[in-house]
Amino acid sequence: MTPIRTVLVVGSGAMGSQIAMVCANAGLTVACTDLDQSALDRAESMLRTRMESNVAKGRMTAAQRDAAFDRLTLTTDRDTAARTADLVIEAAVEKLDVKRSLFAELAALAPDTAILASNSSSFVPSSMASAVPLPERFCNIHFFNPALVMKCVEVVRGPETSDETMAAATAFVEKIGKTPVVLEKEIPGFVANRILGAVRDEALRLLEGGYADVVAIDTACRTALGYPMGPFELMDLTGIDIGYLVKKQRFAESGDPADEPAETVARLVERGDLGRKTGSGWYTYSESGEKQGLNPL
Ligand SMILES: NC(=O)c1ccc[n+]([C@@H]2O[C@H](COP(=O)([O-])OP(=O)(O)OC[C@H]3O[C@@H](n4cnc5c(N)ncnc54)[C@H](O)[C@@H]3O)[C@@H](O)[C@H]2O)c1
Repeated sequence: MTPIRTVLVVGSGAMGSQIAMVCANAGLTVACTDLDQSALDRAESMLRTRMESNVAKGRMTAAQRDAAFDRLTLTTDRDTAARTADLVIEAAVEKLDVKRSLFAELAALAPDTAILASNSSSFVPSSMASAVPLPERFCNIHFFNPALVMKCVEVVRGPETSDETMAAATAFVEKIGKTPVVLEKEIPGFVANRILGAVRDEALRLLEGGYADVVAIDTACRTALGYPMGPFELMDLTGIDIGYLVKKQRFAESGDPADEPAETVARLVERGDLGRKTGSGWYTYSESGEKQGLNPL
C-alpha cells in the first residue's frame, strides 16, 4: 500500500478549504484548486483567520502554522497538481454531472496508482466511479462541517472499491488525526446523516401528531439523550431550507410520499423562516442571535 503524501483537493469552498488545511496541518503536501482566483482568495483569507485563532488559543505554534501554509498551495492550475497526486479529494458543488465529468478528467491526469475520492454527502461511490477507468481506486471520504474541527470522517466502499483502496483511505484519515468510520456497503447519506435524519423525522412526526411541542422534544433530546441541542434547534442552526431541499430531491428520485418534506417544514420555508440565518425558524432570535421564544406555526 503506497502511503499518501501528496493530496489534491478540488473545490475551495466551505469544505474543500478546510479539508486541505487539515491535510497540510498533518504534514502532507496539498494543492487546493477552484474555478477562479477569487474563490481561492476567499478560502485563504478564511483559513488565515482560523489558523490565527488556533495560534492565539495555544492549539498550535506560529511556526507550525507557517510550516502548514508552506505545504499548502492554492492554485487554479488543477491539471499540474493532479499529475503528482497520491489522493484526489473532490469537494466541488453537489451536482452529480459536475462530479462525474470532474472525475473523468482527473482520472486521465492523475497517476494510475492515485486514489480518487469524493467528499459528497449523498452521492454514493458507484454513481461517480462509473465515470473513471479504474473504479477499484474510487471511494468516498466524507468529512463533516467544519472539517478543521469535526473528528469523524466516513470512508465509503463502492461495489468495485478494492481492499487496498479502503485500507489506504482509512490510513490517510488516521494520519490526518481524524476518526475513520468505515461503510462496507454504500447507502445514500451514509451513517451519521442518516441517523440525524431519522431523529429529525421522528421529532417532526411527534410534533405534527400533536404528541409534544417543539420545546418539549428539544428538551427531551438534550436532557434525556445528552444531545448538545435538540433537533429543532439544530434545524434552525443548519438552515431549515437545507433539509427541505434534500427531502425534495429524495422525493423527486423515489416518488415515495415518506420522502416528502414534512408539512410544518414546508410551511416555514414558504414563509421564509429558515432558522437563525433569517432571525426566525422554529424559534425566533434577537439581532445578536439570542434565542427568544417559539415562532408560532
Ligand atoms: N457544507 C457541508 O456541510 C458539507 C458537509 C459534508 C460534505 N459536503 C459536500 O462537500 C462538497 C462541497 O460542499 P461545500 O459546502 O464546500 O460547497 P461550497 O459551495 O462552499 O464550495 C464548492 C466549491 O467548489 C467550486 N467548484 C465548483 N465546480 C468546480 C469545478 N468544476 N472545479 C473546481 N471547483 C469547483 C466552487 O467554485 C466552490 O468554491 C459537496 O459535495 C457537499 O455535498 C458539504
